[in-house]
Amino acid sequence: MAKPQIIILDDAQSLFVRAAEEIVHVSGEAICTHGQFSLCLTGGNTPADVYSLIATRFHLSVDWNAVHLFWGDERCVPPDDPASNYGMANRTMLCRLNLDASQIHRIRGEAEPQAAAIEYENELREFFSLEPGEFPRFDLVLLGLGDNVHIASLFPGIPALHETQRLAVAVEVDAPQRRRITLTPPVLNHAARVMFIVSGKNKAEAVKLALEGPRDPDKYPAQLIDANPGEVMWLLDRPAAALLSASAGK
Ligand code: 6PG
Repeated sequence: MAKPQIIILDDAQSLFVRAAEEIVHVSGEAICTHGQFSLCLTGGNTPADVYSLIATRFHLSVDWNAVHLFWGDERCVPPDDPASNYGMANRTMLCRLNLDASQIHRIRGEAEPQAAAIEYENELREFFSLEPGEFPRFDLVLLGLGDNVHIASLFPGIPALHETQRLAVAVEVDAPQRRRITLTPPVLNHAARVMFIVSGKNKAEAVKLALEGPRDPDKYPAQLIDANPGEVMWLLDRPAAALLSASAGK
């Protein structure tokens, strides 16, 4: 497993700015090398300020015409539902941008879950021109970290943790929005880069288990992430990194 790069920022605001800077940097590199930037967004609350920063302070630093947005997971709710990951990205970022609908590849949380997962898989296959058995290579996948060490909607102990063929699946998880659709481990691990964005002391235990805990991906799904030959970066603020060994990060 490639050793992840761990960067520790003093506080949440510094973390959000650094995350936005990294996204801008990767977008420029991707667009220069292959003319487009495929960014897979994470849900939850942590990235909201990052998305706002990208659409405001860093707006002019991104060639938005070459950007395509995807989601790592979605709750099975309509896009205007407060729990929708698309809805959060729309409120914080998309509403400030002038992207064409063809650049936004949302998961249809309002649809029947199995059908929505298949629809999203077909959209991925079409966009990335995948042959059967191939996985999409996102230029950048953003991930948050649940306090139970889940990533996307890959929660401890669920069968989807062992999925090796599907690109996206419908799952039922132990969370307020039980029914979700999530990308699978092979898709996340096929990314050119995976960047975790984790903030707050309530995540310190989960970060410790993910990065320095006993190896048990079934229990600690974040341990599944090994985007070889891609890069894995953990952006943490100091409270989230508080339990890591002194040698971790900078
Ligand atoms: C979701 C996210 C999920 C999230 C973590 C952390 O749909 O909820 O994809 O994986 O990143 O639960 O959430 P917070 O950032 O809100 O702590």
